[in-house]
Order: sequence, then structure tokens, then C-alpha cells
Amino acid sequence: MAANNSVFRTRDLNKLLAETRGKKALKKVLGPLELMMLGIGAIVGTGIFVLTGTAAANYAGPALILSFIFSGVTCCFAALCYSELAAMIPVAGSAYTFGYVGLGEIWAWMIGWDLLMEYMVAVSAVAVGWSGYIVALIESAGGKLPAAIINPPGLKGGMINLPCILILFVILLFLIRGMTQTAKLNDILVVIKLSVVILFIVVGAAHIKPVNWHPFFPYGVSGVFKGAAIVFFAYIGFDAVSSAAEEVKNPQKDLPIGIIGSLLVCTVLYIFVAAVLTGVLPYYTYKNTAAPVAFALQKIGITWGSAAVSVGAICGLTSVLLVMSYGSTRILFSLSRDGLLPQAFSDVHPKYGTPVKSTIIVGIIVMLLSGFVSLDRLATLTNIGTLFAFIIVSASVIVLRKRRPEYKRPFRCPWVPFVPIMSMILCCWLVVDLPVFTKKVFVIWLAIGLVIYFAYSRRHSVMNGEEEETPSPTDGN
Ligand code: ALA
Repeated sequence: MAANNSVFRTRDLNKLLAETRGKKALKKVLGPLELMMLGIGAIVGTGIFVLTGTAAANYAGPALILSFIFSGVTCCFAALCYSELAAMIPVAGSAYTFGYVGLGEIWAWMIGWDLLMEYMVAVSAVAVGWSGYIVALIESAGGKLPAAIINPPGLKGGMINLPCILILFVILLFLIRGMTQTAKLNDILVVIKLSVVILFIVVGAAHIKPVNWHPFFPYGVSGVFKGAAIVFFAYIGFDAVSSAAEEVKNPQKDLPIGIIGSLLVCTVLYIFVAAVLTGVLPYYTYKNTAAPVAFALQKIGITWGSAAVSVGAICGLTSVLLVMSYGSTRILFSLSRDGLLPQAFSDVHPKYGTPVKSTIIVGIIVMLLSGFVSLDRLATLTNIGTLFAFIIVSASVIVLRKRRPEYKRPFRCPWVPFVPIMSMILCCWLVVDLPVFTKKVFVIWLAIGLVIYFAYSRRHSVMNGEEEETPSPTDGN
């Protein structure tokens, strides 16, 4: 048989599963509840606590409720696709690994490269949101920090956003210590943030004035989609559940529960939060607030609620940081294990059982990004990276059903190809509504990725020298 040097060579699922049981295997410690907590931990954060206000004030008005529904539906379609692939291919690397099995190496690399950016800019964006809440809390207690150390260059006299760097350093230490401790801390933070979101909904609902919902579409119907392209950020994170696949005890059953369950919980909460937020105050009052949820409660006179929300939001943002940073180190780990990036990044530390080197590299990059780049840019770049990954994952479901019908699918996405095609169409729709700057940076990032692929990855891939596959009827069973 001839060696397969095609850029479209695919990885064999059985071999991949066998490798993960080999010497570079990660510890299996996560069950369904932990996965849902991991999902909610990644999802509820800057999107709902920070971006909701600006999206209501600048893009959608009270119709932000519809923006959340539009983005939520898009994510549900994508989540069904993710669930099928994550249960079928329970290997670290998420969409990247799905692409390797389904579409071929060059696509896998491009997704992996995209995910690396997406996760790192997401972590950085959330760290900026965290910094904003901490600064607001310090200021509400009468303290004052110099503008130079709480803003990036070019924003309100800023030089560096120092609080971001400090929190990311702490997160880095947790990740190095390993998943068990991280999951426990995450559970506590998730419970706190869910409590404050529910507190906001319940307390705020009693103060809704329906007059605030008129006009419902102050920016027209197009504002709904612009708002959706921004608040899409609020849903990002359920895919992080699939990046933990290798550390799950019973991935076939638990992964779909973790992914779809966490997304549904968040969708319902977000719709209520958007309704209450735009119902208690006129949408335009949120124009310049960095903490709209706390701001709303303060304005209606519930000061204790406002303080509780601020503290809860800080906890919530911390848990997003934890899960997203975890996801980005695992993407780097997978790219390296497959030879597409230097092997050092997939070394597992003998004592902690975690990929310490990739964790440190990711840590340094996110500290630099969050310290020096603005929230808008980081958030919209995250969105475009995620939407690209969702589109490829949805395509992989269709391609794999055709190319590899014999693979065992413990969870089957319903109505294929309708669901994956809808997922792709809705994701493309949201990409169109993102800023031009974001699209340009994204294209440059992908172009750099292509250069690296042809200059390094293709020559170092572990698939070099592997023979062309002949599909076997028992594959995956
Ligand atoms: N969904 C996450 C957040 O809102 C990324 O912060």
C-alpha cells in the first residue's frame, strides 16, 4: 500500500481511540453533572453580564430578547452536531479532531488553528470583563485605581490592563495543578453565578414596566441580527465540554447530556434576563454601563441585589476563565500530539497529569492579549472564530455520515442533513453581521495558519508514513 501524503488524509477513529489509551492519556474524572457544570461554567459570563447592556442600547433595544432567541437557536443546531461528533469521537481536541476524522488533515489543522485563536481571545475577552467588574466593585467601595493600569493602550488613558493579568496568572496555577481541583472550584463558582442570575430575574421581574418595551424594535429588524451577532458571545462555551472528552468517564452518554443540557439551561436564563433587563429600564440607559445587570438593580433601588450580582458576576467570570483556559490548553495539546506543532506541548507532567508546557504558553499569550487589547475586538474575534468552527463541525456531520456510515454513533443528530445545513446557514448569517475589522483579522490569522501548515505541520504530522486507509466494516464498533 502507498503512503498517504494527501493534505486531505483523515485519521482512523479506531487508531485514534487506541492512542488516547496510550502513554499520553489524560486522567478520566468527569461525569454528566460535572460536564453540565463545566458547560455552564464556560457559557454564563461576559456575554450576559457585560455585553447585554451595550447590545440592547446600541443594536437591538428590547428586541434583544429576539437576538438571544436567534443566537440560541443557531447554537442549538450546532450543539446537536457537536453532540453526535463528541459522542462518536471522544478524544481531546473538539472540532479539530472531528475535522481530522471527517474532512482531512488540512481542514483539521485550519479548525485547530482557528480554535486556538478563538479560545485564547475568548479567555482574554472574559478577563477584560472580569477586570471591569472588579474595578467597578472597588470604586463602589470608595477606592480608585489609576486609569493607566486598568485599561489597554488607546482607551481612557490606559497603558495596561493589570487586573486581567493577575487573575489569569491565578487561573494558570489552578490549571497546572490538574482537573480534579479545577472541577471542584468550578462547581462552586457555577452555583454562585446561577444563583445571582436567578436572583436578578426574580427580583427584577417585579419591577418590569411594559412601557419600556415600546418601541420594541428601535433599530428595526436588522438590529435584531446585529445584536444577535454580538450576544452570540454569551453562548460560546458549550463546545468546551467536548474538548474535555478524554477526561470523561462515560463519554458516549455523558457528552450529549453535558453539551445540550448546559446550552438549554443558559438559553432559557438569557431570554428571561434580556426581558427583565429591557423591562425594568429603557434600553438606552445601558449605553455606557460596564455592568448592566448590577446597574439595573441599583437604578430600581435594590442596592443589596446590585452588590450581590456584582460579586456573583465576578465569580461567574472566573469560572468562564477557568473552563476556556482549560479548553485552549487542550487544543494546543492535541495539535502537538498529532505532530502539527512541536511535540513539547503534548508532554504530560508526571506529577500533575496535565500538559504543563502548553498551559504555560497559553497563559502567557492570554495575559498579553488581555492586558493590551480592547474588549470589543476580543469579543467579536471570538465570535467569528467560533462561528467558523461551528460551520465546519456541521459540515463534518454530513460528510462523515456519507463517508463513514459504519462508525458507531451513540448519539445521532436528528434530521440530518436539515439540522447541520440550518446550523451552517444561521452561522453564516451571524458572520455577515460582524464588523469588517474582525473579518480582516480573521482572514489574516487563517492565512498565517496555512503558511505554518505547509512550512511545518505537514512535514511533522504523525500521519506521515501512514498507509492509505482501507475502511473496515467493523470500524468504530
Ligand atoms: N459565553 C462566555 C461568556 O459570556 C464566553 O463570557
